[in-house]
Amino acid sequence: MFTPIELADGIYSVGCRDWDIRDFHGYEIPEGTSYNAFLITGEQNILIDTVKAPFGEELVANISRILDPKEIDAVISNHTEMDHSGSIPRIMHKIGEDKPLYCSKMGAQNLKNHFNRDYNFQVVGSGDTLTLGNRTFSFLETRMLHWPDSMFTYMPEEKILFSSDAFGQHYAGDKFFDDEIGDDIMPHARKYYANILLHFSPRVQALLTDVAKMNLDIRMICPDHGILWRKDPTRIIAAYDLWSRQEPVNKALVIFDSMWESTTKMARAITSGIESEQVGVRLMNTRKWHRSDIMTEILDAGAVAVGSPTLNNGIFPVIADVMTYIKGLRPQNKLAAAFGSYGWSGEAVKILNKEFEEMKWETVDPGVKVLYVPDQDDLKRCFDLGTALARKLKEKLNR
Ligand code: FEO
Repeated sequence: MFTPIELADGIYSVGCRDWDIRDFHGYEIPEGTSYNAFLITGEQNILIDTVKAPFGEELVANISRILDPKEIDAVISNHTEMDHSGSIPRIMHKIGEDKPLYCSKMGAQNLKNHFNRDYNFQVVGSGDTLTLGNRTFSFLETRMLHWPDSMFTYMPEEKILFSSDAFGQHYAGDKFFDDEIGDDIMPHARKYYANILLHFSPRVQALLTDVAKMNLDIRMICPDHGILWRKDPTRIIAAYDLWSRQEPVNKALVIFDSMWESTTKMARAITSGIESEQVGVRLMNTRKWHRSDIMTEILDAGAVAVGSPTLNNGIFPVIADVMTYIKGLRPQNKLAAAFGSYGWSGEAVKILNKEFEEMKWETVDPGVKVLYVPDQDDLKRCFDLGTALARKLKEKLNR
């Protein structure tokens, strides 16, 4: 059980920590996560979001430490993904199914489709303001951050923004606030952005512009996952601005898999070529690095070389896994090059080049293919591929 934390007068964090979860839709989360939910007490008692279904009883127990759940007058659902909506049926059953359930238009549709129930949906949209007892709630739809139904709820008097998935982190630790954990939270926030929100970066930019125009005074940001930003909410907003710009830095990645170490030798030679041009580089063997950590590194990398041997006229299964994952998250502004060894047909480089094209990455070279085992000339070609990639990156960065 989680001891509710009072965030402001009568406003509590009542969610649950999921200590055991390690995989979130293919994204490795070594420190678990939390499903944050918030109870606003006053003349009316309002619950903002719920938790994943298996944690429903724990949520009810947490709320019960403050008030009888029957005293809840309404629920606000900022987001219908099941990690936040999974306990809505349990909560509605407890508080009375005729009580208002505030959500976006798409949220009402999603909740109906998820639970096959027609709750007392009260649709709210961007710019709507609701007074419930002595509290005021304003809404801002944030479509695709992370689903089409997503929205922010803002409490102007308390200056608290309940931001749903945005500004979250998959972290279930002993800390609850940014001032308690300090800089250690930023790698979690960065990984979360790279693996969940990156493909919506243009929408993040538009949202940040909207928020700036609204001139919202934000004292605290309460996301639905991880720590709450009470000391310096501007820090995570600035980080989102940076990450969503997808501006490349002086950094390259060499991502590869190998069958008989030939592609490994090529990867190492390419890495040396990149280093010789004073570009920072990481050599990432897909058997050693989880796809979600590779994705995090891709966030700001300016150049990416991908190597795969040819297997059964295709690319290696682990490389196919990583490429599918990367492609879905749509990282932009990358220079790219492919390489790989082969035995007789050698399609891997061609397939990888097609993947780069589909992702709108700029291919700087047709790529290097090596029959069976690279000799010194082949390794020199790989070294040169590395230098070509690095030089192009420096040219792009005006270095
Ligand atoms: Fe944390 Fe999109 O749900």
